[in-house]
Amino acid sequence: MKGSLRWKPDQTSKIPIFKQIAGHLKERILSGEWTAGSRIPAQRQLAGQFGVNRSTIVTALEELKAEGLLEGITGSGTRVRSTPAAGPDSSRSLDWDAYIRRGIHMPNLPAVQAINRAEADPAVVRLGTGELAPELIPSGMLQRMLGRLARQPLPGGYEEPLGSPALRSEVSRHLAGYGITASPSSILIVSGALQALHLISMGILRQGATVFLENPSYLHSIHAMPAVHTRMAGIPMDGEGLRVDRLSEHAEDMNGAVLYTIPSFHNPSGIVMSGPRRAELLRFCTEHGLPLLEDDVYRDLWLDAPPPPPIKSMDAGGITLYIGSLSKTLSPGLRVGWVVGPQPVVERLADIKMQTDYGTSSISQALARECLAGGLYEEHLLRVREQLLIRRSAMQEALEQHCQGLLEWSTPQGGFYIWAKVPARSGAKPLFQRMLKKGFLLNPGYVYGPSCGAYLRLSYAYAPIPDMQRGIRELGALLRQ
Ligand SMILES: Cc1ncc(COP(=O)(O)O)c(C=O)c1O
Repeated sequence: MKGSLRWKPDQTSKIPIFKQIAGHLKERILSGEWTAGSRIPAQRQLAGQFGVNRSTIVTALEELKAEGLLEGITGSGTRVRSTPAAGPDSSRSLDWDAYIRRGIHMPNLPAVQAINRAEADPAVVRLGTGELAPELIPSGMLQRMLGRLARQPLPGGYEEPLGSPALRSEVSRHLAGYGITASPSSILIVSGALQALHLISMGILRQGATVFLENPSYLHSIHAMPAVHTRMAGIPMDGEGLRVDRLSEHAEDMNGAVLYTIPSFHNPSGIVMSGPRRAELLRFCTEHGLPLLEDDVYRDLWLDAPPPPPIKSMDAGGITLYIGSLSKTLSPGLRVGWVVGPQPVVERLADIKMQTDYGTSSISQALARECLAGGLYEEHLLRVREQLLIRRSAMQEALEQHCQGLLEWSTPQGGFYIWAKVPARSGAKPLFQRMLKKGFLLNPGYVYGPSCGAYLRLSYAYAPIPDMQRGIRELGALLRQ
């Protein structure tokens, strides 16, 4: 289906555009990609996808209706009517839509789905993306390492349940640099931090458990902890991070709960939790027997000064599960991260991982080990920080030039994000939609928390600087309207 998303009508062809589109959609139906009874994408979405007016889509759909392939059911959109394979009694054919609706994993929020679609469109300028720009991913270094690996016997088998011992030793050494003492047997290699969150939710949370977290939080934007399991309880933040005084208001609600925090260069607010606040949070969680999930994927991306030591490094009681990843600093495509915690917990998570995917790609693990082992990762980080500093200044200057007095924001000390407040009369949702129409993708705040409708998440990590400047100028113009 991904290939077909990229299909566009040929503007130079003699065949009318609506006919090309009708032909393309017909192929989706006759190949069984769109089955009888299923709803086809909205006209607006198809128009955007194919770069045509909505009226062209309407004409194409009318043609398919006339052929008996589609039917419009008032109030429920256009559906596929029947396919030759479905036979004469198409009403009894398999209803995939019903199966999909009943599946237990929640779908993404519509805005997150729209963001995911737009991110796949190379014509869109990504002004809010949580990813390094392609030119900041050290592809030369990764190629050289792959070359070196290719000259040795490749690790082609399944790895141990906790992951490659050689990589775990390197991660253990790497974590010692942050002051965390973690032997390789307390480290589980995962396919990115997101998988760590899935494993934790399946491995240690009971039905209906409460997850305390910052409001806003990245965790609101995905169903890493499926809603059937959890109740998200957002705790306000201030300039020093999560407000422990507000968390303590829930003291009677801690049974079976966990606390999730992103203390360093928080996603999306960019806030760094202060050292004293980290100590206070650890004390609170220890006193209340509340497991603390510390998601530290942005730690290495400090620009002005390193953040305070991880909470995990102060935790002698073993209440913290520490999550790290190479996605934000090196390459998200590698899919390598880790969880560190008490041995019985990581073994429980490893057991679930074995039932899920039998381990992270052994080749990715070997590559990650090479990067961490030879000091090349640290060398690469110096370049990434240097480039992110330049990009942060460029975005800051563009905001000052075009959005002064229209947006409120503060400069983050690291990570990727600028969390900007828009005036109440503008609203982040219409801005998101209008900017997307103009080819600029921003992340609207409401995907990060229930009370974040007046915010936008900007990122200086991805778009080329001239595109970023154009985008911020456009944003300023829209805000002024
Ligand atoms: C705070 C946080 N945790 C986890 C992730 C997921 O990262 P990974 O690619 O390692 O799964 C992200 C990615 O946006 C993130 O911002």
